[in-house]
Amino acid sequence: ASYDMGGHDTFMHKEISEQPDAVDRVLRGRIDDRFSTVHLGGLNLDPREARTIRRIKILGCGTSYHAGLIGAGLIESMARIPADAEPASEFRYRNPVVDPDTLYIAVSQSGETYDVLAAVQELKRKGARVLGVVNVVGSAIAREADGGMYVHAGPEVCVVSTKCFTNTVVAFALLALHLGRIRDLSVTDGKRIIEGLRKLPGQIEEILKSEDEIKKLAKEYAGAQSMMFIGRVRGYPVALEASLKLKEISYIHAEAYPASELKHGPLALIEPALPTVAIVPDDDLLEKNRGALEEIKARSGRILAVAHQPQEKADHTIVVPKNEDELDPILMGIPLQLLAYHTALAMGRDIDKPRNLAKSVTVE
Ligand code: G6P
Repeated sequence: ASYDMGGHDTFMHKEISEQPDAVDRVLRGRIDDRFSTVHLGGLNLDPREARTIRRIKILGCGTSYHAGLIGAGLIESMARIPADAEPASEFRYRNPVVDPDTLYIAVSQSGETYDVLAAVQELKRKGARVLGVVNVVGSAIAREADGGMYVHAGPEVCVVSTKCFTNTVVAFALLALHLGRIRDLSVTDGKRIIEGLRKLPGQIEEILKSEDEIKKLAKEYAGAQSMMFIGRVRGYPVALEASLKLKEISYIHAEAYPASELKHGPLALIEPALPTVAIVPDDDLLEKNRGALEEIKARSGRILAVAHQPQEKADHTIVVPKNEDELDPILMGIPLQLLAYHTALAMGRDIDKPRNLAKSVTVE
C-alpha cells in the first residue's frame, strides 16, 4: 500500500504528529472504569493463569526492545512481577533456560523481524507461552504467538519508529495495569493510572506545540560530534531510545548511560564539546538526577534537560507536562523524537530512509 504524507515533508514528521490520535486508539474500548482495570481480549490468559506467572521476559529488536525495557519497568512496578527485556537475537543464541512459570512477550512493530520470530519459534518449540505485542495485524509474529495485543499505531512508513514506540509503551502500561489488578494493585492505584492514561493524548498534543523551541535547539546541536544521553531507572530506556533515534537519522554518534553510572567511566568524556541530554522527571529520584547535572556542569559540560520544571544546572530545559510517575517516560521521549528529527533535518539527512537501515529486517 502507499500512503501520502498528508501535508508533512516527511513520514517521520507525519508519524510524530499523529501520536495523540494513535494513543487514543490503543486506549479505545479497553478501559473498564467499573473495576479500574483494562480488558485485553486477545491475551488468552485467564486470571487464574495470570496469577501463576513468576517472571516476565520481553524480547524485541531496536526500538521495540527499548519499548520492552520500559514495559518491563511498568510490569514490575504495577504488577510486582519480576520482568526484564532483552534483544531477541541475543536471547536466541545463548541457549536460554526456558522456564514454564515465565511468560514471554515478543514485541515487534512489523511483526516480521526474523530475530524476533525465530526467538518465538524456539520458545514455542520448548513449550513456553508467548504473547505478542505487535502493530501489523495478521503478521508472522502475531500469528505465531499464543495471544497478545495489537498496538493500533496505524501504518508506520519512516524507517525509524516513533508513533509505534509510543503506542507500544502505552500497550505495556495497559498490560501492566491488567496484570496488576488481577494481582495486588489497588482500585485506587488502578483509577490513578487510568486517569493518567486518559491525559496522555492531550499532553502529547501540548508537547508537540514546543516544536519551534526544539527546532532552535536542534540547530545548536547539529554540529556535535557526539552526544551523551542519561536517565535513571524509568528514564534510562528513554535515554537509550532517544540516543538510538539521533544516531539512526542524523548519524551523530550518541551513547546512553544510566545517570548513576556516570562516575564509573563516562564522566571522563565530559567536556564542552560533548553535550548531554538528561531525563529529569519530578519523582523520587529528582535530587539524584540533579546531582548528575551538577557533576556534568562542574566539568563544563553542556546540558539539555527534559524535565517537569526548569533545571538550574541545565543550559536549556524542555519542560513537559507531568503525568503519573509510571507514565512519565511515555511523554519524556516525545520532545527527543523532535530533537533527533530537527537535528537530522538541519544536517540535510534523508530522514525517512537513513543509510544502511531497513524498516524491517526479515532475514538473519
Ligand atoms: C529495524 C528498524 C528499527 C526497528 C527494528 C525492529 O532495525 O530499522 O527501526 O526498531 O527493525 O523492528 P520491529 O518491526 O520488529 O519492531
